[in-house]
Amino acid sequence: MVSPVDFEAGRRRAEALARRTSLGVGGRPRYLFEPSTEEECARVVHACRRAGVTLYYLGGGYNLLVTDEDLDGAVLATRRLRYLRVFADRVEVGAGNPFPELVRRSIELGIPGLPGCPGIPGSVGGVVCMNAGGRFGSVGDALVEVRGVDAEGRRFRRGVEAGDLGYRTSVFRDVLVTGATLRRDPALRPEAQRRLFREALAWKKATQPLGARSAGCMFRNPQQALDGRSAGQLIDMAGLKGRRVGGAMVSPLHANFIVNAGDATARDLFDLIRLVRDEVRARYAVDLELEVTTWA
Ligand code: EPU
Repeated sequence: MVSPVDFEAGRRRAEALARRTSLGVGGRPRYLFEPSTEEECARVVHACRRAGVTLYYLGGGYNLLVTDEDLDGAVLATRRLRYLRVFADRVEVGAGNPFPELVRRSIELGIPGLPGCPGIPGSVGGVVCMNAGGRFGSVGDALVEVRGVDAEGRRFRRGVEAGDLGYRTSVFRDVLVTGATLRRDPALRPEAQRRLFREALAWKKATQPLGARSAGCMFRNPQQALDGRSAGQLIDMAGLKGRRVGGAMVSPLHANFIVNAGDATARDLFDLIRLVRDEVRARYAVDLELEVTTWA
């Protein structure tokens, strides 16, 4: 017998999302579910859909800005979807596995691209949805299959095809990712991968506020900014490093990071985002788009 979804338990478990997001802000959802199997996930998605309850998917909470108000909906957190199965040619990993752990192991496992991703926080599921990465490598370099649950509550597995992954985005952003398969390449030498990891980490530490409470880069790099300038460069050129609204601040180290420098509220963060966008638009006629997901 399939057990029904227990909304009452979901209601009791609901707590403020401020405790589960790297920016440290966010109100309470109506329900919180933390399934530990794919089948349970499918049941939650299906039940919420039938009941007309809006559903939000929470990975590590590292790329997310949530309103201070309570959220009228249910949050499905993936952190209990944890497993790591190692095969000769691939690894299968749960969406709830911490990505930094996988990155560390990728050196000896020979997973392409991942050793170039130190300092990228988050869950495997979140990283897959965002196609996270940077100049030294990205999760897309090794991703061969994604498992998940679609909007109707049906489980799926999908081989990753050309066009599924884009710049800091993927076709998996609108579905629940429950697990991923990454390819192993026996030709990769651990010493070379270790060097790549160290080089990438040193570069990150020098250029990004890794210890700060942030959601990583706040804005996408614009497609046609003046001379291909990045969002961080434009914000920096506008003289906004260190600018504050309440407890929210533009990082003095990297201008595309907006950090919670004290007791920032979501309102402070949204207000600072608006200020930055207005300044950049006024000076350079560029509309900065958010990279971070917002629940507001
Ligand atoms: N720059 C400035 N001032 C700043 C920040 C950057 O002048 O305050 C300059 C840098 O000197 C460099 C250029 O802007 O010449 C680009 O900066 P950077 O190399 O730091 O790369 P980015 O485009 O700002 C992207 C990703 C990061 C990723 C890095 C490294 C986006 C929005 N961001 O940043 O990803 O770590 O490349 O690969 O694509 C994230 O997605 O959360 C993130 C942090």
